[in-house]
Amino acid sequence: MTHTHHLSEIMDLKGRYDLYGPIHKGLRKAQCDLLVRLGNIDFNDARATADLLSDMRGLLALAAAHLEHEDGQIHDALRARGAASVDRLDHQHDDHRATFARLEALVADIEAAKADERTALGRQLYLAFGIYIAHDLEHMHEEETVAAPQLWSLFSDAELMAIENRIVGSLPPEKAMAFMRLMIPAANPGERAAMLGGMKQQAPREAFDAVIEFAARPNLSAAEFADLARRLDLVA
Ligand SMILES: [Fe+2]
Repeated sequence: MTHTHHLSEIMDLKGRYDLYGPIHKGLRKAQCDLLVRLGNIDFNDARATADLLSDMRGLLALAAAHLEHEDGQIHDALRARGAASVDRLDHQHDDHRATFARLEALVADIEAAKADERTALGRQLYLAFGIYIAHDLEHMHEEETVAAPQLWSLFSDAELMAIENRIVGSLPPEKAMAFMRLMIPAANPGERAAMLGGMKQQAPREAFDAVIEFAARPNLSAAEFADLARRLDLVA
């Protein structure tokens, strides 16, 4: 996963390199899926509750890491070239971080609660996570409609790919895999094939195989995986 140019074929409709699109699709899907699970869960089922809270902590950690990547690699670069309104995005990220701390505290409260209190606390977590997602949907929309055009006017595609590669190259393998698990099922078939086709060509074979087996196959339907395998010429 060290030489990851696997997103290099992901382009927006105008053919420009899209830093935000694939990861934001992944975050939208993962967060909405988790919200639905929070609505469905029986908080009297200790095992299911523990699994859900663990998944929630994992997703919040990925969302926080994503903010760090944007702060460190995108906001500073935009500011250095004189882009307007980067402060707004910084403030939105600060708000997200405060929200993550509140959500973590609610998760800990549920874990520590007596069994007969968990359902009511779980309802609070459901509402708090729902309004966080609402804010995050607006925030990501601003990034994709306001910040992305600034990136396209101020940076070449080669520079944007270099930003992406610095982000991906900074990830330990298990975190890179966790992000692939978010992004692959959220992408459309053509994006999926472009993302993984670039990786097939440029990443070490064992890294590519691991992504196929641990990020793609378990997170796609049989039909989606068959489509991907056909597009990538994978030998069954
Ligand atoms: Fe952001």
